[in-house]
Amino acid sequence: MCVVLPQLLKLNNFKRDMASTIIVRTPVLTGLGALFTTHGLSKKSVVLFDENTRKLFGDAILSVLDHEGFQWKELVVPAREASKSFNAAYRLYGSMIEADVDRSWNLIAAGGGVVGDLGGFIAASYFRGIPVIQLPTTLLAMTDSAIGGKVAINHPLGKNLIGFFHLPELVLIDPSYLATLPQREIYTGMAEVVKYGFIADGQLFTYLDTHFSDITDLKEPYLTEAVKKSAAIKDDVVIKDFRETDGLRATLNFGHTFAHGLEKLADYRHLRHGEAVTLGMVCALFLSHNLGYLDRESLERGVALLQRFRFPKGVVKRRFLDIDRDLLLESMFSDKKKLNKKLRFVLLKHIGEAFLLEENIDDQQVLQAIADAQERFKPATIR
Ligand SMILES: NC(=O)c1ccc[n+]([C@@H]2O[C@H](COP(=O)([O-])OP(=O)(O)OC[C@H]3O[C@@H](n4cnc5c(N)ncnc54)[C@H](O)[C@@H]3O)[C@@H](O)[C@H]2O)c1
Ligand SMILES: [Zn+2]
Repeated sequence: MCVVLPQLLKLNNFKRDMASTIIVRTPVLTGLGALFTTHGLSKKSVVLFDENTRKLFGDAILSVLDHEGFQWKELVVPAREASKSFNAAYRLYGSMIEADVDRSWNLIAAGGGVVGDLGGFIAASYFRGIPVIQLPTTLLAMTDSAIGGKVAINHPLGKNLIGFFHLPELVLIDPSYLATLPQREIYTGMAEVVKYGFIADGQLFTYLDTHFSDITDLKEPYLTEAVKKSAAIKDDVVIKDFRETDGLRATLNFGHTFAHGLEKLADYRHLRHGEAVTLGMVCALFLSHNLGYLDRESLERGVALLQRFRFPKGVVKRRFLDIDRDLLLESMFSDKKKLNKKLRFVLLKHIGEAFLLEENIDDQQVLQAIADAQERFKPATIR
């Protein structure tokens, strides 16, 4: 006799809701029809691109869908952050309704984090939710934004404020898509890759240290290995702390408290997120060391790796890390003060282990970490 306990059923449902299948391989779309069927997905897909990913990969992707017997509807948005808006979403809902897209369809988001976040947002809300399949084409999307189910659009009062937790059914990663990605975007994504080494995996850190140029030059097998490891770490953290309740998911924000202040000072225009994160991680390393958590040798190893990142000439000229320290602190606080909140910092115990510091830190400590980073870090320009 087989008795299925209600708790077990609940747990299974819970687990199903909490897991995405992530596939990393080149080419990744072979056998797509069978893959969709195995995952209970219909062969009816809305495919969202931005103008660049439509041009670069659109014909190839849509011809695979034809070949695999899919019914599809393509949607294209401008390739910019502003596409993560309610207006853009509203327009896309309209196109989908007109094309008779209903609950039996799914949505494939083919692009960087903008397309992934917008596509996920639309999928989470359209007809009370249809499945989303992430097909990331930037290094940042492959290793970060496409994984974990946080989907959002921006509001004029702030980034990513309106959104859902909507896990992708599948994340299909093909590192060969990165061949056309500009160098600047490679370094932007690489910041998050290195972050995983810092917060979760000392061996990955050593691997990245050894093969940094191989990866930024997109050499195989190093690139795929780095993408695989990063995606697995993000997925693991997300499964363990889906709604960011026990501080684990918050460790993904290593360097980000400083980075958000820098991005704001740069009007979210002059500095890519990953560039701000690179600079923010230098500050966070010094803060970890100055507060007595991270030893000198690890600090030096960390700074040396970050020193290998390259920035566009314009960014170096603007000397973002050399700005007035009080101004940066104020910018880091800006949206917190309104909510009467404290700044939260993720620190390192050693390379490969991070934690969210619960207690309040004196402003002087934060300013000192910025000063140390400013003195030590000399950004190099993209060749
Ligand atoms: N949901 C999350 O958990 C999460 C995490 C991090 C970032 N994000 C979001 O991700 C977004 C940033 O994502 P992004 O850095 O991928 O930027 P993006 O989507 O704007 O892509 C960057 C640029 O690269 C182009 N591009 C994409 N793939 C290409 C390719 N293979 N070759 C050449 N050009 C290509 C795009 O058209 C765009 O111009 C932000 O909106 C951010 O808020 C979300
Ligand atoms: Zn980030």
